[in-house]
Amino acid sequence: MTSNPDLFELPAHVDPARLFDVDVYAPAGFETDFHEAWYKLHEANLPELIWTPRHGGHWMPTRGKLIGEMFADYTRFSNRVGAVPKELGELLRFIPNNIDPPQHRDYRTLLNSSLSPAAVIRLSGSIRALAVDLIEGVREKGRCDFKTAFAEILPIHIFLNMMDLPLSDARHLMSIATRVIRPKSVDDARDAMQAFADYLIPWIERRRDGSGTDFMTRLVSGRIGDRIVTRQEAIDLCVQVLLGGLDTVLNFLCFAMLFMARHAEHRRLLLDEPGLIPQAVDELLRRFPVLTLGREVRFDMEYAGVIMKKGDMIALPSPLHGIDALVNEHPLKVDFHRSSSDHSTFGNGPHRCPGNFLARTELIITFEEWLARIPHFLVEPGAEITYVGGVVGGMAALPLVWQV
Ligand code: HEM
Repeated sequence: MTSNPDLFELPAHVDPARLFDVDVYAPAGFETDFHEAWYKLHEANLPELIWTPRHGGHWMPTRGKLIGEMFADYTRFSNRVGAVPKELGELLRFIPNNIDPPQHRDYRTLLNSSLSPAAVIRLSGSIRALAVDLIEGVREKGRCDFKTAFAEILPIHIFLNMMDLPLSDARHLMSIATRVIRPKSVDDARDAMQAFADYLIPWIERRRDGSGTDFMTRLVSGRIGDRIVTRQEAIDLCVQVLLGGLDTVLNFLCFAMLFMARHAEHRRLLLDEPGLIPQAVDELLRRFPVLTLGREVRFDMEYAGVIMKKGDMIALPSPLHGIDALVNEHPLKVDFHRSSSDHSTFGNGPHRCPGNFLARTELIITFEEWLARIPHFLVEPGAEITYVGGVVGGMAALPLVWQV
């Protein structure tokens, strides 16, 4: 990290004292520990709002309070462009994420009923059956790469199940999703978005009459005011639900299981008291957030002591919120009995993740079924965990071993 303003051309309105070289998709040292790398920024005691020249140049809040506030404040910070650099964010258009209130509400309503607690409870039997199947598939082997054997499969199968799409399409959809989430170039991301559309259009056309009962039918035959959603809106809604629940759950699952593999005392706690698992999942969600999202400044303004200009981009790193000592005491400590916590792991405000109940349910079921079958497990001795950066932080592999 440097604060030498001579190295970069600064926009005229940015105070050089706010300039720090932080790559939100690859904070210094992320390869050896993704969250530790973010925590080092807290230790560096940066101003609460900085400008970094990376990814086209953008603002970044560093403290939890401001991150939470900026996630929620759609009156000043628009979701029109949801990622940096702006060129990439403008290409990745999702519904409802890139629509601001008040229009946002009509689109969001199309999703809410299918992701409500009641709807997720109805799904939980099939989520449990899938989780058990995957765990039983590896149990006798005494080892697995948790990422490929479990975390990559569970969320995509749940999506295909909810959308009533063939499970055999899982691999194809995952490979397109990876190109959108970790694009090699803006052109590659554009091609991948087109590949999603090509895949979805025939399925969408068959469901536009609203006769099905699956989630996709409810989305693609939904109404906005007095009209049915357009075909492009239908595509953008489906892609949003797919991407929203894929890499997020996958990578969070890996962070949570890595922690459990390294901490026998925390496993013991949950084995002795499985009723603590929902609280444990909430605490791990606070401690290991994965997403960094974008906002665009709506108009010229002064905010938190800096001059911002209409069109400036902002990146909101959710990892910095949950591990901020100013909002959570002993933030690096994982305490399953923590009485309250403050974080933006699922965002804040009108765009707060509608899939949070589904995500929590997937995580709780994973913990319940895994611990019941494989109570003690470790990271394979000698294996090094390599982390990956990006919009969603994660790890290259998670090799686990246990006694059979
Ligand atoms: C651990 C797992 C998950 C994490 C950490 C997560 C995180 C987030 C965050 C931070 C946002 C806010 C975006 C913003 O403010 O711009 C969001 C929005 C969203 N998430 Fe999730 N999510 C997870 C799982 C899911 C699942 C399972 C689904 C659905 C199947 C889902 C669907 C969505 C959708 C549709 C939005 C856009 C909502 C809107 O703009 O109104 N997410 N998620």
